[in-house]
Amino acid sequence: AMIHYKSKTEIELMRQSSLLVSETLALVASHIKPGVTTLALDSIAEQFILDHGATASFKGYHGYPFTCCISVNDAVVHGFPGKQELKDGDIVSVDVGVFKNGFHGDSAYTFAVGETSEALQQLLRVTKESLYKGIEKAIHGNRVGDISWAIQEHTEKKYGYGVVRDLVGHGLGRQLHEEPQVPNYGKRGTGAKLKEGMVIAIEPMINLGTRDVYQDKDGWTIRTADGKPAAHFEHDVAIEKGRPDILSSFAPIEAAEKANANLCSAYYGLENPVL
Ligand code: MF3
Ligand code: CO
Repeated sequence: AMIHYKSKTEIELMRQSSLLVSETLALVASHIKPGVTTLALDSIAEQFILDHGATASFKGYHGYPFTCCISVNDAVVHGFPGKQELKDGDIVSVDVGVFKNGFHGDSAYTFAVGETSEALQQLLRVTKESLYKGIEKAIHGNRVGDISWAIQEHTEKKYGYGVVRDLVGHGLGRQLHEEPQVPNYGKRGTGAKLKEGMVIAIEPMINLGTRDVYQDKDGWTIRTADGKPAAHFEHDVAIEKGRPDILSSFAPIEAAEKANANLCSAYYGLENPVL
């Protein structure tokens, strides 16, 4: 197993890839409404990525057939876009990767469609908060387990949510998945040491109910074992001395979310709340 460290120049290229993902997610956000199919959202994302001189990282990755992973309600991650229409009360995770200038960007955001229950709004808020609590630990000299612990404390210990064990965050760079793995559960002070030049994708996958999941018969979609909804947020973070450098941004996505009357706006404005 090998960690690939990035130069300052390479990190700036990665920032371009990550920000293109953020802009793609913002465009998708502006098109979400009851009745839209998840396949239509995938096409919009694909066209936007190609128009910006990039390619979709996920398409063809281990045979994955789409640009986005779009995971609705009990689908946690890796959902197939399709003829399914979004409806009032759904939560929908959109996960996008792009490859540009030799580097991948990879980010995800979960949206609340129309009138969504308080319980689901809290799940989204807390999952997003946990991402930033993990990011707060993503500093040179800390360990991967510090990130994992912070996410688990905020979601499982504080709110009793299920932290998915079967999937984890990851290093990111010339490959979509690099070392180290970044679990969303673990012990402080354990795991690989974080060092300047590492870039990691931190992506809590948090279930309203049980942490247990299974793979759908489509061979990709990961669903909660109890059928309850799940949330997923993902940022790309470069490790530096003293402070984390978040390469992706939720700012354009949150702006699109606020501007779209079809998205639940009961929570927002959590950009870098801990920094
Ligand atoms: N963002 C996800 C991840 O980091 C999606 C990749 S799965 C793929 O693992 F196959 F669709 F690419
Ligand atoms: Co990822």
